[in-house]
Amino acid sequence: MSKTRSKIVSDINKNLNKYYKDYNKNFNYGITLSEPSYDEKEAKAILKNFLNGNISQGKNVKLFEKNFSKNIGCKYGIATNSGSSANLLALTALKNIYKLKNDDEVIIPASTFATVAMPIIQIGLKPVYVDIDLETLNLSIKELKKAITKRTKVIMPVHTLGMPADMKAIIKIAKNKKILVFEDCCEAHGASIDKKKVGSFGIISAFSFFVAHNITTGEGGMILTNNRKIYDECLSLREFGRINQNKLHSKRYYSDKKIKNYDKRYVFTKIGYNVRMTDLQASVGVIQTKKMDKLNKLRAFNAKFLDNLIKKNLNKSFITTKYIKNYFNSRYTFPLIIKKNCKYSRKSICNFLEKNKIQTRPMMGGCLPDQPGLRFEKGRSVGKLKISRYIKDNCFFVGVHPLVRKEQMIRMVKLLKKFLNE
Ligand SMILES: Cc1ncc(COP(=O)(O)O)c(C=O)c1O
Repeated sequence: MSKTRSKIVSDINKNLNKYYKDYNKNFNYGITLSEPSYDEKEAKAILKNFLNGNISQGKNVKLFEKNFSKNIGCKYGIATNSGSSANLLALTALKNIYKLKNDDEVIIPASTFATVAMPIIQIGLKPVYVDIDLETLNLSIKELKKAITKRTKVIMPVHTLGMPADMKAIIKIAKNKKILVFEDCCEAHGASIDKKKVGSFGIISAFSFFVAHNITTGEGGMILTNNRKIYDECLSLREFGRINQNKLHSKRYYSDKKIKNYDKRYVFTKIGYNVRMTDLQASVGVIQTKKMDKLNKLRAFNAKFLDNLIKKNLNKSFITTKYIKNYFNSRYTFPLIIKKNCKYSRKSICNFLEKNKIQTRPMMGGCLPDQPGLRFEKGRSVGKLKISRYIKDNCFFVGVHPLVRKEQMIRMVKLLKKFLNE
């Protein structure tokens, strides 16, 4: 780089330091649902890689995959452009490798995000909707047992809003019945059971780095696995279905009956996608991974503080999710479940909070088989999905991200106490 350009970059970097020093000064009394926990490090990484031309998938993606998979406790990582793509790729890999047939069943919680169910349908498998537990908002083990048939090939627990699903029970059931376990960890980076992080229990797992999530690359996702075959399959599926690129440099040319000495980069061995992450995003992911465990502790601290406040002050109106010994809930957001005898609807409570600059959201997909885009699609519901339907109408969540302060949570609870006459 020329002296002039080096000087310009150095000046920009100095200004970025100043920018982020000033960033957090103004106290905002409202609560946002999420904020990226960025500082000058992420901004500098983007600038450096942009100026160096590292803009599509490259060395930063490899480094992000290595560091993130190590943090979670898995051997291989495959970065993607979103958590939804990670789910699509992971399910396709399982279908290809384990030769699943169309209409084979994948068990999922009924109350979760839409792209847990959608990729299952997109690749010809069938989602089986199972109710959740009110205490954890996760897959009910009792209902899961009822759901299993000869066609059950995959159990796909979701660690809802950072709360680990009961992986010991799920793995035990799956092992006995020879069913694959695919963990959707899109909302649960760094959550753990007995210090073992979610995403390292099943044969494969998926994460999202969308802007609202515990660590973020803007958009982004990652698949983790310890299984070499699954890893190779995912790499190929991620890039147009082309021949395993790990072997690219050992033997550059491919030949068979119909293709002779053809550059391996252009040999496609299966039907694939292009769902790659860019190096710009991955450069941010590398820095975010380093911060992840610390950021999660701040979330857990905020959640505990808010949980205590709610238990003390709003006990007549709300239930909060359970604390389980040796479970670390990484608190993507904080759910409030409205009690049956509360006179106020979710709509009125959320409108009140929003007017006071406290952002809220319902439990995402609510009860998935009730969604307009899913209700006429392939799928089977187990039982009446009573809790999922209750949650669909009576639950919302608020932010407890690292930038939320105690004063803001105290203000929110005071406002609610007055509004709800508690
Ligand atoms: C459980 C779950 N799975 C999958 C996704 C999809 O992730 P993305 O938004 O990165 O596509 C989300 C999104 O928040 C989610 O909550």
